[in-house]
Amino acid sequence: MKFNIKSGSPEQQRTDCVIVGVFEKRRLSPAAQQLDEAAGGLLTEVVKRGDMDGKLEQVLLLHAVPGIEAERVLLVGCGHERELGDSPFRKIVRKAAVTLNETGATGAASYLGELPVKGRPLHWRLRQVVETTDQALYRFEPFKTKTETTYRPLRRMTLMVTDRKELPEGKRAVAEGTAIAAGIRLTRDLGNTPANVCTPTHLARQAAALAKRYATITHKVLKEKEMEKMGMGALLAVARGSRQPARFIILEYNGAGEEQPVVLVGKGVTFDSGGISIKPSAAMDEMKYDMCGAASVLGVFRALGELALPLNVVGLIPATENLPDGEATKPGDIVTSLSGQTIEILNTDAEGRLILCDALTYAERYRPQVVIDIATLTGACIIALGHQASAVLGNHSPLVHDLLKAGQESGDRAWELPLWEEYQEQLKSRFADMANIGGRPAGTITAACFLARFTEKMHWAHLDIAGTAWQSGEKKNATGRPVPLLMQYLLDKVAR
Ligand code: BES
Ligand code: MN
Ligand code: ZN
Repeated sequence: MKFNIKSGSPEQQRTDCVIVGVFEKRRLSPAAQQLDEAAGGLLTEVVKRGDMDGKLEQVLLLHAVPGIEAERVLLVGCGHERELGDSPFRKIVRKAAVTLNETGATGAASYLGELPVKGRPLHWRLRQVVETTDQALYRFEPFKTKTETTYRPLRRMTLMVTDRKELPEGKRAVAEGTAIAAGIRLTRDLGNTPANVCTPTHLARQAAALAKRYATITHKVLKEKEMEKMGMGALLAVARGSRQPARFIILEYNGAGEEQPVVLVGKGVTFDSGGISIKPSAAMDEMKYDMCGAASVLGVFRALGELALPLNVVGLIPATENLPDGEATKPGDIVTSLSGQTIEILNTDAEGRLILCDALTYAERYRPQVVIDIATLTGACIIALGHQASAVLGNHSPLVHDLLKAGQESGDRAWELPLWEEYQEQLKSRFADMANIGGRPAGTITAACFLARFTEKMHWAHLDIAGTAWQSGEKKNATGRPVPLLMQYLLDKVAR
């Protein structure tokens, strides 16, 4: 999808379709009113007949409206104006995109950015239109020999503002939205790619491709030999059972000279069978999504490359499969992490924390201003928060606060769970410095407690995205979360 911005009145737009809103009950939005006047009251007439009363997500497509340059007019129901918050606004935008995609229109001029969303300025609304439209039209079909894609899909959308003075703000919104949408797409594509293709080596190639495309990005990939030399015993313990070699991927985005970087660490388990503590087979295919943390880091770098923000960001991706095998790590095995601390691996399915702890120790060498890890870490997180919010836990409350705020702003929300000292007790081991599991209670918290033992020297936060990174069942699909949250966090940093 291509997006651009323009100012002008709706009746004069030469395009396949003009998109305007109608509120309940039968109240025309400003752009709809303008069309109505140009068309001699036709829209008023149509809504009077009862074909469109403005209910949320109702749509009506009109052809060859007299007095109007565009071939079509799409009326989208917006519900009650007073109730127009973030969530209905996204529904309206999604509905418009999906509806148009099914018609012959390949281009459109959208006036949905004018809708008065509660507490949201023009810049926010326009950026949301871009991100939401792009996400609504996303399909993943490189593995289908007969594609299901619409014959004439929507390809271009012009976001309309009424006043020329709004153009600079609009341009910025479209640029940000386009970059973030591209990041989200990459994250979704990598998540959806099956594990026989999306291996640790495949992830490393993605990093190489980003470094090749953007002059601001460099990359480095460590192989198992080098990880061994360094002493990444926890990461390598997970990789033992797999024939696919593990990779440690390092990405550096330089946009601010010598400034201390933000370090992002993404869990890259390209398939999690559980290892010797093997998972039940129902829905095990979804464990191809266990690299969505890594994919979100790559997505952020894609967006950073496009946007050229004045920041330094480092991405660290420990990438491996978790499989059972004659060489695989066994319950009870004890390993030494890069930090020197020893870990008794009581459950090989708690592998995410094992690869993350070595990556977090590695992060120390950057003296980061903050380090944020992103991981599909615990099934318990889905029990706690469902599929609405990612969990956030950390050792520095301003950082946690900033992440929560970025979630609110972007609509990619997170919710804090406590990281109290008392929970640490659950990680006691009879034979090593710690165990890698903490029992059934508070599984998301004890997983974060484990990571906290490796981040004491840094300002750190952890995002558990087990419930938000993908949708299950019928609608199985990667979501691209938490790329919007992370990008908002980085944009907010620049604005300060
Ligand atoms: N990748 C899983 C977590 C997960 C499971 C995410 C289901 C999304 C859906 C992780 O590696 C894992 O297996 N965690 C275990 C931890 C337990 C053994 C302490 C879990 O959640 O069951
Ligand atoms: Mn696991
Ligand atoms: Zn896992």
